[in-house]
Amino acid sequence: MDTYIEFQKRRKKLADTLGEGIAVISNSDESSRNRDCNYPFRSDSYFHYLSGFPEPEAVIFIVAGDQPRAILFCKPKDTSKEIWNGYIYGPEEAAKQFLFDEAYSLEEINKIAPKILKGYIPNKSIYCLPSTTPSNCAIKSIANLQNWTGQKKVVEDKYVDLSKVLDGMRCLKSQGEVNIMQKSANIAAQAHIYAMGITKPGKFEYQIEGEILNQFMKNGARYPAYSSIVAGGHNACTLHYVSNNSLLKDGDLLLIDAGCELEGYASDITRTYPINGKFTSPQKDIYQIVLSAQKKAISKVTPGNYFDDPHKAAIEEIINGLIDLKILKASHDEVFEKELYKEFFMHRTSHWLGLDVHDTGKYFDNPLDGEASRPIKFKDSNVLTVEPGCYIKPNSNVPEEFWGIGIRIEDDVLVTSSGNKVLSSNAPKEVEDLEDVIGSLNE
Ligand code: GLY
Ligand code: MN
Ligand code: MN
Repeated sequence: MDTYIEFQKRRKKLADTLGEGIAVISNSDESSRNRDCNYPFRSDSYFHYLSGFPEPEAVIFIVAGDQPRAILFCKPKDTSKEIWNGYIYGPEEAAKQFLFDEAYSLEEINKIAPKILKGYIPNKSIYCLPSTTPSNCAIKSIANLQNWTGQKKVVEDKYVDLSKVLDGMRCLKSQGEVNIMQKSANIAAQAHIYAMGITKPGKFEYQIEGEILNQFMKNGARYPAYSSIVAGGHNACTLHYVSNNSLLKDGDLLLIDAGCELEGYASDITRTYPINGKFTSPQKDIYQIVLSAQKKAISKVTPGNYFDDPHKAAIEEIINGLIDLKILKASHDEVFEKELYKEFFMHRTSHWLGLDVHDTGKYFDNPLDGEASRPIKFKDSNVLTVEPGCYIKPNSNVPEEFWGIGIRIEDDVLVTSSGNKVLSSNAPKEVEDLEDVIGSLNE
């Protein structure tokens, strides 16, 4: 796989960008679920981005300067441990496969790290992620960072937050990353189509969730990117509903927010549709408003536009639509100024997408002196979600026919040189297309 070369290029680029100094990046720790059982291990996204190395208890040093080098500390080979927990690369094989200049056993880190760090403090910077600076060192494997520098006192301003540089890199996707994200979106879209096909009244939400997970795995994605939201009826008005334990009722809508993780990259798709296969008139009214808001928002995703342009477009559609339906009972200007629409559309329209479902990357430009900070502008190869919604709680002060309707439509969108590409376009969202698919599969 040539991605190992891509990981190596990222380390080189990081060293070039830093110019001098040392970056220290540690992988996440395993976390215990209960006695002797861990949660499935997932690498820290920054660590993965720079290495692809899949083991916990590993630390990378990237030395910038005239002769940049990348050094990995990892678990030593241990055949008795391998009997229980499987293959361990060990430094020699890890260096070869993951293209590190040097690799050592983690057991040697207290001996070798001081030599690598010698002379860096107080002269040059040490770059760390916020969780691994000496004053906030959550990660066991580099708890000794301060000692390794030979300094008795923490020289805080010599520890520079590495996330700023790495976030800038992660926010612009390479062609290799885009290819994986397209596959991740295809698998998730396929799972949504399958879920639509098997939806009918009388099933439990978690039974649909189970089929979605099955589709992810069947198609090569081992994990969901986040806990799937499978929310029938007014459960959809709880934005992060993950209980998924209610019965699906005839006449209700079903909101599914589910995406998979493929080679570390998340997809994040939401579709909302009628459980019995046919929208009621009030459901369709709200659905068309959200769909139109989503399409207008997507049309604003283009290089040079501001990050909040899609959100502004979505708000406009939702305000006008809800005023037409008399759900909002004030003038457009009053609704806008007093943000009355937030009773029904209370979240943002977009977030960056990548290794993390809510990916790193800044949303505002650094203001120049005296200027207010402004939303960042889209650039070619950014990936974001576009996901407006409308949620009308039961007993709201609106006509009763709208009570309990919760709708969100979410797609994954790549910024291209001339506009955008919807990576998740395989998942249907037009009313007629949804009505054709719902309940169409015999299990
Ligand atoms: N699935 C989480 C989100 O849509 O942001
Ligand atoms: Mn989502
Ligand atoms: Mn999202």
